[in-house]
Amino acid sequence: MLKPVEKKIQNLISKREQALAGGGQARIEAQHKKGKLTARERLHFLMDEGSFQEIGMLVAHRSTDFGMEKEHYPGDGVVTGYGMINGRLTYVFSQDFTIFGGSLSETHAEKICKLMDMAMKNGAPIIGLNDSGGARIQEGVVSLGGYADIFYRNTLASGVIPQLSAIMGPCAGGAVYSPAITDFILMVENTSYMFVTGPNVVKTVTHEQVTSEELGGAMTHATKSGVTHFACANEIAAIQHIKQLLSYMPQNCEERAPSVPYEVNNEYRESLNTFMPESASQPYDIRDIINVVIDEGSFLEVHKDFAENIVIGFARLAGRSIGIVANQPAFLAGVLDINASTKGARFVRFCDCFNIPLLVFEDVPGFLPGTDQEWKGIITNGAKLLYAFCEATVPRITVITRKAYGGAYDVMNSKHIGADINYAWPSAEIAVMGAKGAAEIIFKREISNAEDPEAKWLEMEKRYSDKFANPYRAAERGFIDDVIEPAETRIKLICAFKMLENKVVNMPRKKHGNIPL
Ligand code: HXC
Repeated sequence: MLKPVEKKIQNLISKREQALAGGGQARIEAQHKKGKLTARERLHFLMDEGSFQEIGMLVAHRSTDFGMEKEHYPGDGVVTGYGMINGRLTYVFSQDFTIFGGSLSETHAEKICKLMDMAMKNGAPIIGLNDSGGARIQEGVVSLGGYADIFYRNTLASGVIPQLSAIMGPCAGGAVYSPAITDFILMVENTSYMFVTGPNVVKTVTHEQVTSEELGGAMTHATKSGVTHFACANEIAAIQHIKQLLSYMPQNCEERAPSVPYEVNNEYRESLNTFMPESASQPYDIRDIINVVIDEGSFLEVHKDFAENIVIGFARLAGRSIGIVANQPAFLAGVLDINASTKGARFVRFCDCFNIPLLVFEDVPGFLPGTDQEWKGIITNGAKLLYAFCEATVPRITVITRKAYGGAYDVMNSKHIGADINYAWPSAEIAVMGAKGAAEIIFKREISNAEDPEAKWLEMEKRYSDKFANPYRAAERGFIDDVIEPAETRIKLICAFKMLENKVVNMPRKKHGNIPL
């Protein structure tokens, strides 16, 4: 016979067991059959063992319509709480698809908002593991209000604490806008999708026949729209990515990212001195330079499959976290277009929000010409990258490896827009445009009047090239702080970033700037 107090404890235990059972065994099995983990299994893999502390396990919805008063699952379809990831405090919510399809009710939203408020007050990242049928249909506008409460907090938290969204199931309608406001989105291939309207609505409105995967699957958003920063092969891979991503970030905007102990040694990288191809028009993979310059194996590329003409990602240099933005000569000759500009701009802004120094590798022939780009707004979109660099107050260093032409020279973290240290390799060409095009314009008359116009053109091209296809004009002006041997790049960067460690910039007082959106 149990004593009254023991009965009470027993009652608590059975409530907890009920909560841990989610939507029941059959629904859990259905979840597994789809190749998905449950909300709690995901937390098990994400959080340091035994560190997760749940908040709101017993929260229940208040809905009484459509028979909902008879259907209660403790927790109401979302597991919320805090714990450690690699020993650092992190807040997490994990939607439980086995309970009303993970749909968002008033109380479900309140749980997420409570967590976001705590994360903000205590200055630690928040991660959302999204797996939801959207607004709880039985609740109507109340659940829409819940979404808006979350969007509002996402925006308040933006730039204060890192916010990460993993999409591990459906994410449709207005629900997509919470992840969209957060800093990074990770999707799982074949089991997650995001769209504002699903295939059925698309078919009715535009008569297009498209599957969920084609319309808003992980690869679609990783390659075509750029909505997701990572497309992960499975949920475990997504969870590993979250942990790795967090390791480069500070807990909040007041802190610095954690660094790994490092002792400066022989940092000369001989192979870089013979790296550059003979011809300036020959492509090379900028990642081959990045990987030699940074700490071995430390590059985490972001947005890998989108706008491949620019490469962005996190890395460590002498143990310190840095953000890298690099033109990619191996893709479209590294030209800047709309997608590359927005991709780069958002990353620069993230790094600046969270005190992560920026390293730029520059080899850019200019902005992409053409009606397609002009009509879609390369002017406004290119200006985003320019604005983002101009505004960034973190330590900023540029290494010009080869081309730095035209407006792109200014935009790619030039000295003029606030970069701290700008280096050039001897192979750098810093000019208004390439020698061939320049000769055609400024020596037009000489070329057309010449007996052999082709030979004249080559002669004039050489003249222009001898004068400008090098870094020394810029170095004479001080636009470049030094021309360096490629092999010295790593040690030069280590020293310069160390020198810039305590950089302080005071920007003009304002409410906020007006980035060209
Ligand atoms: C309440 C929901 C639900 C929802 C799913 N369920 N979505 N309950 N509100 N929004 C329930 C189902 O009734 C079912 O309950 C269980 O979750 C699993 O759903 P299934 O349909 O069996 O699963 P599946 O076949 O995998 O299909 C998943 C799905 C589909 C594609 C997400 O359920 C679906 O289309 N749901 C509706 C999506 C939707 O239109 N949501 C509103 C979008 S508008 P049982 O009891 O059988 O297990 C929106 C606006 C947000 O979200 C605006 C913010 C500003």
